[in-house]
Amino acid sequence: MSTGVTAASASAFTEAMARLASGVAVVSARRPDGAPCGLLVSSLCSYSARPPSVLVSVARDSRSCQVLADGAEFGVHLLGRGDAALAAVFAGRGEDKFAEAAWSWDGAVPRLAGTCAYLRCAPGAAFGHGDHVVVIGEVVRCDLGGDDPLVYYRRSLGWRLAGEP
Ligand SMILES: Cc1cc2nc3c(=O)[nH]c(=O)nc-3n(C[C@H](O)[C@H](O)[C@H](O)COP(=O)(O)O)c2cc1C
Repeated sequence: MSTGVTAASASAFTEAMARLASGVAVVSARRPDGAPCGLLVSSLCSYSARPPSVLVSVARDSRSCQVLADGAEFGVHLLGRGDAALAAVFAGRGEDKFAEAAWSWDGAVPRLAGTCAYLRCAPGAAFGHGDHVVVIGEVVRCDLGGDDPLVYYRRSLGWRLAGEP
């Protein structure tokens, strides 16, 4: 859908966004056939405290997009510094991303073990814009782990400032 607004150049936009430091999370859900699915996201943010809710933007070509847009419960796993390998798996297009991971069902939500924080979300709202779908989840459970966050900045995961250990 065109908004009538002139778009910035794609390269300027991606350069600008590369300067935004963000955490990363694995969003997971159960597909209609009962299998777990999930993807790595950096678009996650806190949406509101009343009710506690989060927002994530999912590309329409993600294999998890339809499940989330259709209102599945979902899990959000905030990744820690020790989770870079997990991040790579969930950023990929492997057939079974959960095969090598430690995980279990939390009701209808596939829960990965040992991440920085885990939020279980009931479906709140979903709407499409452009090539992404915005999904809002109401947080019904929140468990905290101990690791420092894995940070995505300037196209790198786990970046460090010069001189930082
Ligand atoms: C650092 C990083 C952040 C990402 N953030 C998002 C995001 O916010 N939304 C999204 O749809 N894809 C995001 N992706 C891409 C998906 O993780 C990737 O396309 C994945 O293969 C989708 O898997 P699926 O098709 O199994 O759902 C990101 C990838 C990386 C490396």
